[in-house]
Amino acid sequence: MSGLSPEVARRRTFAIISHPDAGKTTITEKLLLLGGAIQMAGTVKGRKTGRMATSDWMKMEQERGISITTSVMQFPYKGCTVNLLDTPGHEDFSEDTYRTLTAVDSCLMVIDGAKGVEDRTIKLMEVCRLRDTPIFTFVNKMDREVRDQIEVLDEVESILKIQCAPITWPISMGKNFKGVYNLYTDTIHVFTPGQGHIIPDDIRINGIDSDEAKELLGDIYDDFFDEVELVRGGSHEFDLEAYRAGKMTPVFFGTALANFGVREMLDDFAEWAPAPLARETDQRAVEPDEAKFSGFVFKIQANMDPKHRDRIAFLRICSGKYTRNMKMKHVRTGKDVKIADAVTFLAGDRSHVEEATSGDIIGLHNHGTIQIGDTFSQGEEIRFSGIPHFAPELFKRVRLRDPLKLKQLQKGLQQLSEEGATQLFMPLNNNDLILGAVGVLQFDVVMRRLKDEYKVEAMYEPVNVNTARWVNCADERKLEEFKRKCADNLAIDGGGYLTYLAPTRVNLSLAEERYPDITFRTTREH
Ligand code: G4P
Repeated sequence: MSGLSPEVARRRTFAIISHPDAGKTTITEKLLLLGGAIQMAGTVKGRKTGRMATSDWMKMEQERGISITTSVMQFPYKGCTVNLLDTPGHEDFSEDTYRTLTAVDSCLMVIDGAKGVEDRTIKLMEVCRLRDTPIFTFVNKMDREVRDQIEVLDEVESILKIQCAPITWPISMGKNFKGVYNLYTDTIHVFTPGQGHIIPDDIRINGIDSDEAKELLGDIYDDFFDEVELVRGGSHEFDLEAYRAGKMTPVFFGTALANFGVREMLDDFAEWAPAPLARETDQRAVEPDEAKFSGFVFKIQANMDPKHRDRIAFLRICSGKYTRNMKMKHVRTGKDVKIADAVTFLAGDRSHVEEATSGDIIGLHNHGTIQIGDTFSQGEEIRFSGIPHFAPELFKRVRLRDPLKLKQLQKGLQQLSEEGATQLFMPLNNNDLILGAVGVLQFDVVMRRLKDEYKVEAMYEPVNVNTARWVNCADERKLEEFKRKCADNLAIDGGGYLTYLAPTRVNLSLAEERYPDITFRTTREH
């Protein structure tokens, strides 16, 4: 990465994409172990929302510490400063995941070696493709009886439409798993079971032709030798440019549970993964080494610490530096704010940062003024683009059990919606509060949190809304007319944007036909 200052050039900001159960939590823990952020595996509990019932999820969430330590994890590795951004596993939280993917420069895709390419991975790869995000691949669970790995790579190539360049190749699997062979350095990394909780010994054998290699492989030596020839002949050679362009993925094998193969992957990740990249705004591209500070908010989390009622806005720095007490412009509101107490997430601990640079994530205390997608800059009127809000698919009307608590209810719904997982709509023509979400689980979570965090007892009622569209029109007059005629279907969302709530798809199509000058959007972008 020529041209970047050494400090920026050593940043690696990434997220893990995988199907639930492939091993994201396990590999995260091993990465933290390798980065010295934790001393022993087993100390980090993941939010394994993927397989959880609502009640389990709530219980985990109540142990708030978990969300804090796993939202962003920064650790040093081989001269790099690595920022790992957590993404929720549960499908109902996919919006949050999509937005987090806009804040990274690359991804690590974890695949279960026995299962191959699964649904969630396909969806997440589609999101990565929008920005040609570079992808590293780790095929996990080699300590189990897995599938033929050539077949798995074929699947990755054909379904995910990305070329595979195996860097390591597994030597056998399951009980016979012996390690991985690096096709480029001609080195065997020998697997020793039972070292999953620590950083395992780094045992290497140089040369597949060596006597040690023959001894290690024994009966399977000839077969493995042939397999390697086959893989070499039949797969793509690694090309750094193609990887950086999101067209090719280097593939590594191992077992996260036994902490094997992860280090071999991380070593190359530190070297090949991109440093902070330029980011698009409505005006121009912002380069990571520009002197002036800029960044955007991709995630808001409410009440991370129940004692302090705080909400944290996660901001990805796109240029310049954050220093304590600096002034920045909150572009949407036009206000200058002094930020004295941004938080960082070094080594899983929330602590005050003195300084952070392009590629880093800082947490800003939010008192309700910050929204997802907001840009902060040092004066310049720019807005980072590509951070989507998706139109919800499910709607419910919220009713209070105790009418005196209306203010509390509004506040709770508003604040929880700021996190972006649910959206609040206030119709122009009545006092209903309508909640929209992309997944069913969201509704239960909101109800529980209203009770726990805002002391409000509410309930849901069905509402005749099928889908929502954000509406806009360049012509003020036409917009006013539309507002008058369609007032019964219009609402203001939590961010203050005009929204059309359609009772049926047919109604929506008719409205779109009738008002060709109005744009109806499925995503609200900033
Ligand atoms: P996720 O975050 O992607 O959902 O996956 P997670 O790491 O929680 O892993 C899912 C399950 O797969 C866990 O087992 C985990 O121990 C197991 N696992 C992860 N990596 C490997 C591996 O390399 N080899 C084997 N054999 N298993 C692996 P679990 O029994 O569902 O949970 P737990 O009781 O172990 O926590």
